[in-house]
Amino acid sequence: MSTLFKIAQIGAPVLRERAHEVTREQLATPEFQQFIDDLIATMRDANGAGLAAIQVHRPVRVVVMEVDGNPRYPYKPKIPLTVLVNPVLTPLSQEHFDNYEGCLSVPDLRGVVSRFAELRVQAWDRHGTPIDREVRGITAGTFQHEVDHLDGMLFVDRVTDPRSLCTWKEFARHHEAGFRLQVERIVARFGS
Ligand code: NI
Repeated sequence: MSTLFKIAQIGAPVLRERAHEVTREQLATPEFQQFIDDLIATMRDANGAGLAAIQVHRPVRVVVMEVDGNPRYPYKPKIPLTVLVNPVLTPLSQEHFDNYEGCLSVPDLRGVVSRFAELRVQAWDRHGTPIDREVRGITAGTFQHEVDHLDGMLFVDRVTDPRSLCTWKEFARHHEAGFRLQVERIVARFGS
């Protein structure tokens, strides 16, 4: 059985906190493992591409991500179910791309954010096993969006031009076709 959590909405002070590091002892408890399962269930229920623990009112450094035919982001390349504990992201180059982002904590709003195109990801998985890998392209944008949550940051803070802000309906109407072409170019270049 899993519990579905309520997702904090922009304005909730918890979204502006810095989430705490998770200890190995904490991670190993059945309660914490159940929490991770519930976080995954909540992300899937809300059709999120990712969800940070802080978004369900628990300020610890855990994010989950999964993309496979996501109805909110139909153009996003697949991301297998990924759990990152205490993640640290390091850009591998200065190359950036423009990502049209949305967030389960920011209802009905999207905007353009500049993201690093290539990252090193260091973290633990849910069992405390070290992860050290590289991610690129659109997927790197998703990783940066989720890890930003752990430092109390929302995509709206990073929107470079506020005039790019739009509702989901207006995104579909005016911006999605152009953005899909950009996504195709990025995926062709980085494979994700
Ligand atoms: Ni978000």
